[in-house]
Amino acid sequence: MEGKDDILGQPSPKRPRRTWRDRCSGISIIILLVCSTLASYCLIGSHLGWTKSRFTADGVTRAVGHVVWGSCDTWSLPRAECGSIIVPLDYFDRDAGTASIALARYPASKTPKKGIVLFNPGGPGGSGKFFIARAGPALQAVVGEDYDVVGFDPRGIGESEPKTQCFDGDLSYTTFARNTILARSYDTASNLSLPEARDRLVIDYLEADALYHTQFDICRKTMGDKLKYMGTSTVVRDIDFITTQLEGPEAFINFYGFSYGTILGQYLVNMFPDRIGRVAIDGVADAVVWATKPYYTWYKDWLSSTTPAYDIFLTRCSEVGPAICPLAKKTGEDPSRIRDRIEVFVDGLYYKPIPVPFAGTPGVLTSGRARMYLLMALQRPSNWQVASAGLAQAIAGNGTFVMDATELVFGDDMARQAVSCNDNAPFKVPPAEEVVDALLDVFHNVSRLGLAVVTTEPDAGCQYWPVTPPERFQGPWNHTLSSPILILSNSADPVTPISSGKLVNKLLGSSSRLLVQDSPGHCTLALPSSCTLNATRSYFADGTLPAEGTVCKTDFPPFSDPEELASAFASGEEGQRLEAQAQLEQILPLARRGLPFDQVLLV
Ligand SMILES: *[C@@H]1O[C@H](CO)[C@@H](O)[C@H](O)[C@H]1NC(C)=O
Ligand SMILES: *[C@@H]1O[C@H](CO)[C@@H](O)[C@H](O)[C@H]1NC(C)=O
Ligand SMILES: *[C@@H]1O[C@H](CO)[C@@H](O)[C@H](O)[C@H]1NC(C)=O
Ligand SMILES: *[C@@H]1O[C@H](CO)[C@@H](O)[C@H](O)[C@H]1NC(C)=O
Ligand SMILES: *[C@@H]1O[C@H](CO)[C@@H](O)[C@H](O)[C@H]1NC(C)=O
Repeated sequence: MEGKDDILGQPSPKRPRRTWRDRCSGISIIILLVCSTLASYCLIGSHLGWTKSRFTADGVTRAVGHVVWGSCDTWSLPRAECGSIIVPLDYFDRDAGTASIALARYPASKTPKKGIVLFNPGGPGGSGKFFIARAGPALQAVVGEDYDVVGFDPRGIGESEPKTQCFDGDLSYTTFARNTILARSYDTASNLSLPEARDRLVIDYLEADALYHTQFDICRKTMGDKLKYMGTSTVVRDIDFITTQLEGPEAFINFYGFSYGTILGQYLVNMFPDRIGRVAIDGVADAVVWATKPYYTWYKDWLSSTTPAYDIFLTRCSEVGPAICPLAKKTGEDPSRIRDRIEVFVDGLYYKPIPVPFAGTPGVLTSGRARMYLLMALQRPSNWQVASAGLAQAIAGNGTFVMDATELVFGDDMARQAVSCNDNAPFKVPPAEEVVDALLDVFHNVSRLGLAVVTTEPDAGCQYWPVTPPERFQGPWNHTLSSPILILSNSADPVTPISSGKLVNKLLGSSSRLLVQDSPGHCTLALPSSCTLNATRSYFADGTLPAEGTVCKTDFPPFSDPEELASAFASGEEGQRLEAQAQLEQILPLARRGLPFDQVLLV
């Protein structure tokens, strides 16, 4: 009987592990199979001379396609296996050398095994290796225990090599950005006259623009040409390559992507439409504008569900009352009064920021920081009780919690930007006024959090990106696929709106099906839903799509009583699966932001 981590990853005493040698002998058989059954593939391979390419690290030389598996770090689940695969650095240039992609795998616990599902937690900049090594069994609760779930650190990210490391020595990106507009975000107040607001924002934007120029000049100097291999198009080729190496050339690609992982998913299905097996994308962002338009034009759409999410926050806050949501003065208070209280506070910070001497990094709570906090908090309704208490403390004069929660938004270098900027079609340095007018339009017409998103989703500045990637997929986005994919969108996702899910579903026509979860929050994992879970499991089990127009409720509303949740989680197999969803809800944002595993997210 095999030892087995339970659904929540609690290790059982027995910890069998297939050895390094077992794995490698399996791999060489696969490589032989590849070359005997897929002539064209091998012709391309040998034409490019990949078999001659070697990756050397620590004095060990490995050929393209070579996979190793071993144990993971001590913080990982005992049955998780970690390793790496050698891939061509450039799929169009055999002389460019090789890259090493970090992997983690959590083995299927049910037979017959169906294959592998590759995962991406989002970002870009998030570590799939971390995600699997920490959350493998919980992810199997979503796709089924008969799959091996496999995570990889996309190029430039985490433990993959080459790693994006623009800043070195004493200067980290965090030090570089601290207290600049890049970390503070844009300050403005809703009652400021438009010309005044615009003048101030233009000056702030010029500071940001100069910082973007500086950071990417540093990247050019420290990383040079290595930077150009990090984009999504190349990562898609890695997914294809990894699937072939692990499962054989005939295997279809199975993939589950959250948030940015949905952009990766849209590239994947349109670059390899004939190789698509089971693909789910959850928390959908619009890949079309991502690939083709400058960042400051995205936010009008990105934030199109932010106000609905904020409204649900306010309504629920009023319903549960001050004991659970201290922003409310009394149970049943008019939600618009709660909103006004928050807005007056945030506007007031523009005129008088609060000193925060006892934050992890002492500083000043500004209106920009407070709006970042709100935008981050809206993404995680499971945490609204904590988030509302933190904001209530700030309103009462103690900004420590809000400052700490917004201190570390992303990992500490340019891994995210290396993806966004390699993907983004080149654009000229825009006039400051053009950027500011676009941001102000979002602020006034879409969401007051429309300036904060530039900081919480740092994709800006690609006008100074110093390299051109070997490939930059630009569509078309409407291919007919070998199997239909599952699109999952929340009705009120504050950063990846329902409109994007609908757009992708429309583009793919009969090659996709959209499931809407009637809830606020980022990605369907934001709140437990057995309806969504059942639909996802059925899809991965045998390709069953939910009925057209399916809208799933969540099992619990935001601000739910923790004791009520605990008792639901205790009831049988379905309860365990819901608890797995809740566990994923906590791990996903850490993995997505590429933060260390021991980091505690406050919002
Ligand atoms: C805007 O609102 C803030 C917060 O209520 C207040 O402190 C400030 O004086 C107001 N400014 C203007 C120009 O009305
Ligand atoms: C301020 O808030 C922080 C974080 O919630 C808390 O640890 C601290 O005790 C508070 N300080 C005061 C003086 O209330
Ligand atoms: C808001 O939208 C309207 C209509 O599209 C536009 O005329 C106006 O300039 C926008 N407001 C701002 C501040 O951009
Ligand atoms: C797919 O998109 C392309 C480019 O946008 C368009 O020319 C083509 O007509 C579309 N094909 C289908 C089947 O809709
Ligand atoms: C989900 O599936 C389980 C059986 O696995 C069933 O008992 C439950 O009623 C389903 N829940 C929903 C909401 O469909």
